[in-house]
Amino acid sequence: MKTILVTGGAGYIGSHTVVELLFAGYNLVIIDNLCNSSCVALERVEKISGRALTFVKADIRDAEALDQIFSEHAVDAVIHFAGLKAVGESTQVPLNYYDNNVNGTLVLLQAMQRAGVFKLVFSSSATVYGDPAEVPIRESFPTSATNPYGRSKLMIEEMLKDLSVSDSRWGIVLLRYFNPVGAHSSGLIGEDPQGIPNNLVPYVSQVAVGKLQELSVFGDDYPTKDGTGVRDYIHVVDLAKGHLKSLDRIKEDSGVLIYNLGTGTGYSVLEIITAFEKVSGQSIGYKIAPRRSGDIAECWADSDLAKKELKWQAELGLDAMMRDSWNWQNKNPQGYQSDH
Ligand code: NAD
Ligand code: UFG
Repeated sequence: MKTILVTGGAGYIGSHTVVELLFAGYNLVIIDNLCNSSCVALERVEKISGRALTFVKADIRDAEALDQIFSEHAVDAVIHFAGLKAVGESTQVPLNYYDNNVNGTLVLLQAMQRAGVFKLVFSSSATVYGDPAEVPIRESFPTSATNPYGRSKLMIEEMLKDLSVSDSRWGIVLLRYFNPVGAHSSGLIGEDPQGIPNNLVPYVSQVAVGKLQELSVFGDDYPTKDGTGVRDYIHVVDLAKGHLKSLDRIKEDSGVLIYNLGTGTGYSVLEIITAFEKVSGQSIGYKIAPRRSGDIAECWADSDLAKKELKWQAELGLDAMMRDSWNWQNKNPQGYQSDH
């Protein structure tokens, strides 16, 4: 497989995966409507890789744009990142989430079918495990959804399973990401949330750089090691590499394969603060606040299956995750906006 179509390639995880794909020698076509990203990210990717990118600014729901891409490029496989991802927002505008994520994937799959492209790597999420009965979480655990975002991921997973049953040419990997953090070690690309961040590490980074005053720790009365929520944080570069391993896996294989991408270690909110303070030398002001509605106490992955079948495992630890998050934020206090 030489040529890969990357949907959502200007986004946080997409841009880091594009860098790894370029270094591995793949030819890429990127489609992104830039609804949650900036073309500056792609310019920075070109700088890191020393290669020019083929970028199409279009929506994945635009069937004509997809047909044109497939007719102009001999695409062997698709890595599908494009989608909306804010849990809270999804409860306010659920139809946007079903349209963008579910309908968008449907339009993409139809275009792939027309073009005879049957290899796909899809960005799913640990959110499909709902509130798990135990940790670590294995791929065989029951799935459920507590919000429209999570439900859109589950609906897509189901759609992909049906599709692979209907036609054995499909080879599909569903990657269930845990909590991606960190940035490329160059500090040129990273996570650039619009407005006030929802997620912990971007929030902590913005407190460290002085953009936000203090962190609210959502709950210190969970049944966890120190009462705060525990998650499986994974460096985005490790995550990116999991996509290359997935491409290797579906080269010859068909059916749907499902893998957790996590480190297998859970860290609490307070442990994240301490680790961030250590690598940045900044002190992070915080206060204990009520629990955030919908949050679970703890969530971390059993990643043995990915290790066995994908020959993948996370290599970067907590210090590297926090160091690279800080490096990115410190060099780009306004994110990509500073380049406009
Ligand atoms: P992101 O928002 O940074 O990237 C998504 C990209 O898709 C953006 O560049 C956006 O402009 C683009 N996009 C959205 N809708 C589109 C459409 N209809 N047509 C074309 N482009 C469109 O998000 P991310 O963190 O890089 O996440 C990538 C994928 O991974 C998403 O599907 C997300 O749901 C999933 N995921 C993310 C996390 C996380 O915590 N970041 C966790 C689990 C799963
Ligand atoms: N937290 C705070 N303060 C904040 C933000 C977060 O204390 O300002 C805490 C949360 O309560 C949680 C932990 O930090 O205990 C991590 O929260 P994040 O928002 O960073 O991540 P979540 O695990 O809640 O959510 C992430 C993704 C979702 C995805 C989910 C499950 O953002 O899209 O993982 O995969 F659905």
